[in-house]
Amino acid sequence: MPNVLVLPGDGIGQEITPEAVKVLEAVLKGRSTSLNFEYGLIGGTAIDEAGKALPDETLAAAQAADAVLMGSVGGPKWDTLPAPQRPELGGLLAIRKALSLYANIRPVKMLPMLVESSTLRAEVVKNVDLVVLRELTGGLYFGEKGRGINPNSAFDTLVYSEEEIRRIVEMGFQMAAKRRGKLCSVDKANVLESSRFWREITVEIAKKYPEVELTHMYVDNAAMQLVRWPEQFDVIVTENMFGDILTDLASMLMGSIGMISSASLNGTKGLYEPAHGSAPDIAGKNLANPLATILSGALMLRYSFGLEEEAQMIERAVERVLQEGYRTPDLAKPGEKVLGTREMGTAVVEALSR
Ligand code: IPM
Ligand code: MG
Repeated sequence: MPNVLVLPGDGIGQEITPEAVKVLEAVLKGRSTSLNFEYGLIGGTAIDEAGKALPDETLAAAQAADAVLMGSVGGPKWDTLPAPQRPELGGLLAIRKALSLYANIRPVKMLPMLVESSTLRAEVVKNVDLVVLRELTGGLYFGEKGRGINPNSAFDTLVYSEEEIRRIVEMGFQMAAKRRGKLCSVDKANVLESSRFWREITVEIAKKYPEVELTHMYVDNAAMQLVRWPEQFDVIVTENMFGDILTDLASMLMGSIGMISSASLNGTKGLYEPAHGSAPDIAGKNLANPLATILSGALMLRYSFGLEEEAQMIERAVERVLQEGYRTPDLAKPGEKVLGTREMGTAVVEALSR
């Protein structure tokens, strides 16, 4: 039986991961594959209970597991620690790097019943169906960084090897070929040398994929185009930091940041987590939207276990609940039926069998 390591983490992570586990168990009930769930510590919770944001035990369990399901990390309590020890760097970035999860897939698809939940006009967002493929273990996040070449200065470096660019861009072409055949490579080649290198390699790889239409876009323009005319995008492939920024922006194209799921992959080994943060302001109040985590569970079934049918069952159940008018507070407009975190999880479980 495949093992899934569950890492709830901090803040709302503690509330949303149990809902995803609940849905995964329900969808697999009576089917050929079942999953064994194990639990571990990561982030601030791990600092408090085990002295370190990514305890050795957690890393060993993650390496041994077939997939990892994560909630979120970080919170004000740990913000004053030295950066390398903090939940974000010492926990999340460390596990991504240790497992070499270089490909981060963030699907952005507007569901028809959520069009009115977006802050953007319906005609702009109604046909959004794109995927951001974010490079996750290199670039600005992982280059050399530090203080004081001059006494009053700090630096971060954006470094990519050819190999790192190649593997993510190849994946972008493959994804585009299976979708609408359009790949947009987002960079800042008018300024950055690493972007010019990225572009050269991308152009060369494009020769192998004549069926895919490749375009290049500067990241500032991409941010503008994503709110101006998001329908133009199919697959976007981009650098780590650019992808971080653009995916928070893009989440509003699906109504709420509480809807954006993600898969971080290296082959079929994957870590699945919502792309949003730990939302300390609403933590522990049963207010958080568990759908991004539940949908990340669907991505796990698809990418780690090849269970496409079951993945779609979850996706359809989520749509059904929303279609029936149920909303978490982040999605609700006045007068709509508001559910708490647990109740939303239960509603999705019930919708699976309808
Ligand atoms: C994300 C998050 C993380 C990132 C943070 C929590 C370190 O914002 O997954 O997008 O920047 O990658
Ligand atoms: Mg982010």
